[in-house]
Parts: sequence; structure tokens; C-alpha cells
Amino acid sequence: MRGTDTQVGIVGAGPAGLVLAHLLHDSGIESVVLELHDRAYVEARVRAGVLEQGTADLLDGIGVGDRMRSEGSVHRGVNLQFLGRRHRIALSELTGGKAITVYGQQEVVKDLIAARLAVGGELQFGVDSVGLESVDTDRPVISYRQAGHEHRLRCDVVVGCDGFHGCSRHAVPRLRTYERDYPFAWLGILAAVAPSTDELIYAFHDRGFALHSLRSPELSRLYLQVEPDEEIEAWPDGRIWEELQVRLASEGWTLAEGPVLEKGITALRSFVAEPMQHARLFLAGDAAHIVPATGAKGMNLAVADVVVLARALDTWYRTGREDELRAYSATCLRRVWRVQEFSMWMTMLMHRHGDAFTRRVQAASQAYVCESEAAARCLAESYVGAATL
Ligand code: APR
Ligand code: PHB
Repeated sequence: MRGTDTQVGIVGAGPAGLVLAHLLHDSGIESVVLELHDRAYVEARVRAGVLEQGTADLLDGIGVGDRMRSEGSVHRGVNLQFLGRRHRIALSELTGGKAITVYGQQEVVKDLIAARLAVGGELQFGVDSVGLESVDTDRPVISYRQAGHEHRLRCDVVVGCDGFHGCSRHAVPRLRTYERDYPFAWLGILAAVAPSTDELIYAFHDRGFALHSLRSPELSRLYLQVEPDEEIEAWPDGRIWEELQVRLASEGWTLAEGPVLEKGITALRSFVAEPMQHARLFLAGDAAHIVPATGAKGMNLAVADVVVLARALDTWYRTGREDELRAYSATCLRRVWRVQEFSMWMTMLMHRHGDAFTRRVQAASQAYVCESEAAARCLAESYVGAATL
């Protein structure tokens, strides 16, 4: 048994855990990050890739924005397409100049891991059997196994950044959870073909939703609405491209096809756990909340949580004041429910679902967002900054 000490024990090396460790380091607060998987796995995991203005500014601010700036792309607009008619939402014009940055989440994770190791910060990969003990005391412990050895990490504070399937959330007594599962899923592909658009296209079609996103001048990221119990085996690459061609079709525009490098199906879910803290245990990111991917908010919300927590921990260590720490859950949940509202609204606007009445109401909302500057401004504000501004 090996026992070690630190100030903040962080479970999970996703965007939440890694940004938190970086912010704490900048405040001179020591932490240890414990990650279940190995580095290669964590850096290769393909996820979403839209950064709000506030997230991109933060990554710049903490000095991990160089590759994002050189390899990511700033988008000042986004396209909504309804039954083949494309409508551009001028994000920057409608928000006083704000924009999104498209840069894969795994690239953000790579940059954060490199920065963590460059400052000599402790980051343990390949840990398992993580257990949280004495979180009700002022010296909680994280027990874990690594390379066949048992370890006990004593901390002042434990932060669960271990995602939806992690263990931390289950250590919060009397946890209240709120859930909404959607009657559809997303089939996502990464394709080795130049993007056929320089701004995202969210498309509603009678056959279902489709999204054209991008990763680089050589790599496209695309999604299709499928049944929640769909099997990936039922979708050979040819069928995927056929369906994308139909759903994204628009006059005078062509979708280029190419080799599919990666494909997978993810469920769409809304989930919130309350409270996001219990004594010396704090939850951040997907460990506490999940949003459907339509609003592209998952990573931005995770980063927003840890910005609040890092600031509260800095105040606590510098002044002994606990008020910000005590308010952590309430502060975050206000934003979490705001982002849940936007993400659900965007999901119901863009996906094929419901009966004839629902379809009529949906068509009215789609028309309104195209015709009303106020509605477009509302969407733009939420899209560039609901989680971080
Ligand atoms: N012990 C240690 N690490 C764990 C454990 C565990 N028991 N369980 C999970 N982890 C690790 C996972 O391997 C993962 O690397 O915790 C990390 C959680 O990272 P994310 O799932 O990326 O969650 P978060 O940092 O909150 O970022 C949220 O990630 O999934 C996307 O769409 C989501 O964009 C959102 C973002
Ligand atoms: C992505 O680029 O992977 C992406 C973009 C927008 C979304 C979801 C995912 O809403």
C-alpha cells in the first residue's frame, strides 16, 4: 500500500479534469489527476468539436490555445437547413462579434495533457478500482490500483471529473437526478475528405436530421439521426453517404464523399444530477450533467464548471473563505439548466420526431427562426455562449 498527499485529487483526465488541474497549477494549488485509460486511448477518443467564444478565450488565456488557433477554424456563422432550404445564422453580427471555434475535443485533450506534463504536473494513467473515502471529513482519500499496486491519495478536496460512467457521482448521498432520453440517436463518421462547407450545416429532413461538421481541410465530421437501438453493422459506408446526400442536399451544392475512418452511434440524452457537491467532494462536467450533442455544449459546460470551482478553491486556499465553494453547485446548476433548455430546444427543432401536430408546430418554429431576427439572435447568443458567457 502506497500513501501520498496532495491538495486536490481529480478523478478523470477529460476536458474538465485537465482544465481544472491547469487552473489550479496557475494558482499554485497542487493536484493529482487519476485517469482510467492510457494516454493513447484518451487522446484518440473522437468526440465533438465546437468551442464557445468563452472556452476558446480561456484556452488561449491559460496558454494552451496555439494549436487551436493554427489548426482550428473560427466560424462566424452556422447554417440551418429545412427541407433543402439553407438559412445562415450570422453568429458574429448577431452577438457583437462573438464566434465559435471548431477544433476536435481530442485535440484539446492532447494539448492539455502536453501542458500538464510540461509543468511536471502529476497525471496518472491506467488507474482502476478508484474508491472515494471520508469525503465528509477534511482529509478525504482516493484509493486506487495502478500497475498492480494499491494506492491511497489523501487530499483536502476530491473532484469527480470522471464522466457519465464514472464512480464519483455515486458517492453523493441523496443525489437527485433528472433525465430525458430522446427517441433517436446519432450515427457519426470521421471521413478523409475535404469538408464541403466552411461553416456547419444542421439539416432537418423528412428522413431525419443530418449535420455536416469538420475537423481540418482534409477531415470531415458528419452525423445522421438514426433509431435509438440502431446497429452500426446495418450501416455500411455506402449507405451512410447515400443518406447524407439525401438529407443534406441543397440546390447548387455538392457533398464530397471519401473514406470513412471512424464511425459510431451515440445516444442523445439530457441528464442532470443535483447537488454537484457534497462536503469535500465536487462533481464537474459529464459526471454531473449530459446534454444532447445538437447544441454542441458538452465540453463547454464541463470547462465552465471547473472555472467556477478553480476560482472558489483559489479563494478558499488564499483567504479561508468558503462562501464560493458552498455556492458551487447552485452557481453551476443555474447555467446547466439554461444550457439544457437550449440543447433540448435545438434538438427538438432539428430532429424528425412526434406526430402530425408536433410536426406542424416544429415547422412553425423552423420558419420563425428563419424569419425573425430576434429568434435568430436568441439562437446565436446561446450557440456562441450559453455555457461560458
Ligand atoms: N477512474 C478514473 N478515470 C475515470 C473513471 C474512473 N473510475 N471513470 C471514467 N474516467 C475517465 C474517463 O476515461 C475520461 O477520460 O474520466 C474521464 C471523463 O472525461 P469526459 O467523459 O470527457 O468528461 P468531461 O471531462 O466531463 O468532459 C465532458 O466530454 O464526453 C464529452 O460530450 C462530452 O464534451 C463533453 C465532455
Ligand atoms: C462536431 O463537430 O463533432 C459537432 C458539431 C456540432 C454539434 C455536435 C458535434 O452540435
